[in-house]
Amino acid sequence: MNSSDAVYDLDTAGLPKHVAIIMDGNGRWAKSRLLNRIKGHERGADTVRMVVRTSREIGIGVLTLYAFSSENWQRPPSEVAALMRLLKRFLKSEEAEMCDNNIRFNAIGDIARMPADVRQILQHIIRLTADNDGLLLNLALSYGARDEITAMVRALAAKAASGELEAADISAELIADHLYTRKMPDPDVLIRTSGEMRVSNFLLWQIAYTEIFVTQTLWPDFSREEYLSILRDFQKRDRRFGRVEL
Ligand code: FPP
Repeated sequence: MNSSDAVYDLDTAGLPKHVAIIMDGNGRWAKSRLLNRIKGHERGADTVRMVVRTSREIGIGVLTLYAFSSENWQRPPSEVAALMRLLKRFLKSEEAEMCDNNIRFNAIGDIARMPADVRQILQHIIRLTADNDGLLLNLALSYGARDEITAMVRALAAKAASGELEAADISAELIADHLYTRKMPDPDVLIRTSGEMRVSNFLLWQIAYTEIFVTQTLWPDFSREEYLSILRDFQKRDRRFGRVEL
């Protein structure tokens, strides 16, 4: 960071507590350069490093990255295998940085579906960083919001059936407490790169009042400057949560 860096224009008191990102456009980035899609994912992994570093540096509480959706299993096996290899490489290379920088690592999604070797590294880093209390880096892996909501309904229904819970006890707080994001604030900001105007089954319950930013930039080209500029724009937005100013 240097003194000309846009980070100095940020109001540190009004930073989002939770930033969520749909990282899209790796394939198109590669295609436009006549490269294999995997090259796009490799460059995308560098952007992941940048947003994690920047988020930690400026004091974001939680960063949730949509790294692999439950639908992504339907991609060609060679692409799925390459994404798993990249993820492993990323986790191994960032392990020390997470420890040194007080980052707590977490994974949300149907982690049981991940390959055993990836699961092992995930569990290792989750355990290793469990006592850190700086940035919480939350990777969404094999994640789908409808699956998450279905699991929550099943858990509450089981508790109701066993008599542990009355139907009237079910509240928005109790529902939030049975999602993967339990104990985390809802995202204040959702960023989607590459211009698509959809939420693609990401954090459907949690984004009820989230400010959404869609940029045309493809994920491998997403820069620190653009990230900081979105955070500055967020600070100018008037969030009313359905109320009116009196
Ligand atoms: C979207 O690009 C991105 C993904 C499917 C996954 C995101 C993966 C990374 C950023 C790389 C590795 C991640 C980590 C955490 C190291 P796309 O393939 O859908 O792009 P397209 O829509 O242009 O085809």
